Amino acid sequence: MRFDILTVHPELLESPFNYSIIKRAVEKGIAEIGILNIRDFSKDKHKKTDDYAFGGGAGMVMTIQPIADAVEHLLEQRNYDEIIYLTPDGIQFNQGIANNLSTKRNLMLICGHYKGIDQRIRDKYVSMEISIGDYVLTGGELAAAVVVDSVVRIIPGAISDETSALSDSFQDNLLSAPVYSRPSEFKGMKVPEILLSGNTAAIEKWRMEESLRRTKERRPDLL
Ligand code: ADE
Repeated sequence: MRFDILTVHPELLESPFNYSIIKRAVEKGIAEIGILNIRDFSKDKHKKTDDYAFGGGAGMVMTIQPIADAVEHLLEQRNYDEIIYLTPDGIQFNQGIANNLSTKRNLMLICGHYKGIDQRIRDKYVSMEISIGDYVLTGGELAAAVVVDSVVRIIPGAISDETSALSDSFQDNLLSAPVYSRPSEFKGMKVPEILLSGNTAAIEKWRMEESLRRTKERRPDLL
């Protein structure tokens, strides 16, 4: 699966993809991540990528020309299943959307800054607008990293123990049960007996009950 990310700050995206599961997925060829600098496409003599908003008001707008040319450059190379714009006014990202995106071949992600990108880019090219939550970031890069990270880790083969991705919180609309590891007792704090019992069926039942209890307590909206 291939991701192409358009940004004016490629350096912001270097480290999120250079560790752990995502790095290994890229090394294994399961995921390919291209990062394109929008500034390289600017025809302005100072390589500007933003300008004042027509109609006035505070804040700069990312102009149409560099983004349109960058998008066209990518479209000449391949078709994209979705062209995604990261924006606080998009649909709210969740596990269901991540699952759906993980079945695609090529995704393009456009990161905005300042007051956003010229609306004509959204009208002409963008097929999906995603927000990662009701707060405003300085740009779409961290949001793009969140989307790519959550999608790559569920591509089959990205996590060696596949059941691990399937038992994530949200995969069945439930939060995960608590987890424990060695030692079984630390400074008087004990691991629940049942987890040491070796009784797989009883452990599964306990996990399901804990999952439900947590979800009811913390996220009743999921039930
Ligand atoms: N860009 C700025 N804030 C954002 C958000 N919450 N989600 C996605 N993109 C953004």
